[in-house]
Amino acid sequence: MSKKIGPPSTNVEFDKLYSSVGHWIWSDVRIPRELKELVTINKPKNSIELGCGIGRFSSYMAEQGINVTGVDFSSVAIDKAKKRINNSELKPTFIVGDVTNLKGLNNQFDVSFDVGCFHCLNEEGQKKYIEEVYRLLKPGAIHLLWALDNSPSNIKLNPNYISNVFGSHFQLTKSKFSGRRIIFVASHWYWLTRIK
Ligand SMILES: C[S@@+](CC[C@H](N)C(=O)[O-])C[C@H]1O[C@@H](n2cnc3c(N)ncnc32)[C@H](O)[C@@H]1O
Repeated sequence: MSKKIGPPSTNVEFDKLYSSVGHWIWSDVRIPRELKELVTINKPKNSIELGCGIGRFSSYMAEQGINVTGVDFSSVAIDKAKKRINNSELKPTFIVGDVTNLKGLNNQFDVSFDVGCFHCLNEEGQKKYIEEVYRLLKPGAIHLLWALDNSPSNIKLNPNYISNVFGSHFQLTKSKFSGRRIIFVASHWYWLTRIK
């Protein structure tokens, strides 16, 4: 059997990286200003993070007094996220789940966010993800997304693409070029408003 070469795409491949130092490549420990602003500007009471990994950003949200659910399909990452939970009063709920099928969740969230998960998905996965985020967000709520321009799934992501692919369910209200990782990579922040 030939070995697949390229970025990880399955939960098994991500599990391997989370079991080793492999995941450090995307582990920028700084809390993005954009996420801090989501808290101060939108003042959410509850929130969901798609592709939460070891849960740094969900934990930050919980420390701000927000009820947060973090979802990732890597059980190794979710185990680590659970172990990292600190003593903040509100603890994140970490769930092993696929962002393209979140049927077990029926909450209506005030905001949602994703730092590096959407860009892992192929076209079919993207469509299902968008349906799920739409279903789980309150009308008018914001989905904050950070994604690489050159996505690991080989789809070129840019404001035009994001506006079109989210188009039936979300309006792209703002986008901003970003080089957030320590090793510079072209990427964007996107603010998507769920259509009412
Ligand atoms: C680049 S990592 C980012 C992790 C975290 N947001 C961070 O910045 O540290 C992408 C994450 O998305 C998760 N992921 C990718 N595809 C997924 C899917 N279909 N369902 C759930 N999680 C997924 C991976 O397991 C991984 O934890």
